[in-house]
Amino acid sequence: MKSPRLIQIAHQDPQAIRAELLAGLVAPTATIAPKYLYDALGSRLFTAITELPEYYPTRTEAVIFSHEMKDMARALGPVATLVDLGAGNCEKAARLFETFRVQRYVAVDISVNYLRDSLACLQREHPEMDMLGVGLDFSAALALPAEIGNGPRTLFYPGSSIGNFTPAEALAFLRQAQAASQGGTLLIGVDLVKPVSILEPAYDDPLGVTAAFNRNMLLHLNRLAGTDFNIADWRHVAFFNGSESRIEMHLEALRDVRVSWPGGERRFRAGERMHTENSYKWQLDDFAGLLQQAGFSRLRHWTDENEWFAVFAAFAGNGDA
Ligand code: AVJ
Repeated sequence: MKSPRLIQIAHQDPQAIRAELLAGLVAPTATIAPKYLYDALGSRLFTAITELPEYYPTRTEAVIFSHEMKDMARALGPVATLVDLGAGNCEKAARLFETFRVQRYVAVDISVNYLRDSLACLQREHPEMDMLGVGLDFSAALALPAEIGNGPRTLFYPGSSIGNFTPAEALAFLRQAQAASQGGTLLIGVDLVKPVSILEPAYDDPLGVTAAFNRNMLLHLNRLAGTDFNIADWRHVAFFNGSESRIEMHLEALRDVRVSWPGGERRFRAGERMHTENSYKWQLDDFAGLLQQAGFSRLRHWTDENEWFAVFAAFAGNGDA
């Protein structure tokens, strides 16, 4: 049996993380990057979100894959190397191995520690597959390490994680993905615009799991930045901003609040908000246009019966193939 190789690309050091977080905290509208939603508890809460009846994206994407996987595999051809961006527990990618005839699997996530156990488990099920785990924060730059080897790759970016990027950032990211695929392909899940009556409960569920996920970010912040946020002072707010075509998540102060940390403080008025996440919802045509602008061609897409979610496949080549 082979064993997975694991590499960690330079972590941001704790000082730099603290500086970045505190800069966001003292900005006129306090902002915290959504990657800080995912400490150990936050990752578990996100998994719980994906099981909520109101949170349609994960389930809808899974239906699309189960109905259309064969057609997708025909469109893309055999996959020599599958690069799974934001792999987490590696579950989604593992479902593709057989149908896509994957030869090498590269799982990328912010910390290689998240990948160790899931890769070890996957290797037992696929003893002869080459597996590599890469700890890399690709939200800033998609710089894949040389250890992946050369040749065309299929970049797999499911779950509508692209929704955290503004359209300009998404374009920049897709351009990097186009280059990083080395003449290969992209398989990407995108959440689509739909009635607000469906969108908003998915991000503000009656059980309060998304509220816990959002508010837990403050506990993470207290550990990383040395702040003294009291969770009880903050409530979860989520709504669809139609002009920006995005769900916004905020934390709203329930009363006047003073937050302090070694070397500084900030006061919040009752009702003042911190912005914690954007989740953009795309129109099919606009997303296709974005992929083309990023240099992808031969686009295909698959959706569910309601057109709530889409999976796009695209080639990085120059289009006349
Ligand atoms: C992991 C970014 C795709 O935007 O739907 C879920 C995160 N935030 N509920 C999303 C999330 C609140 C999720 N993504």
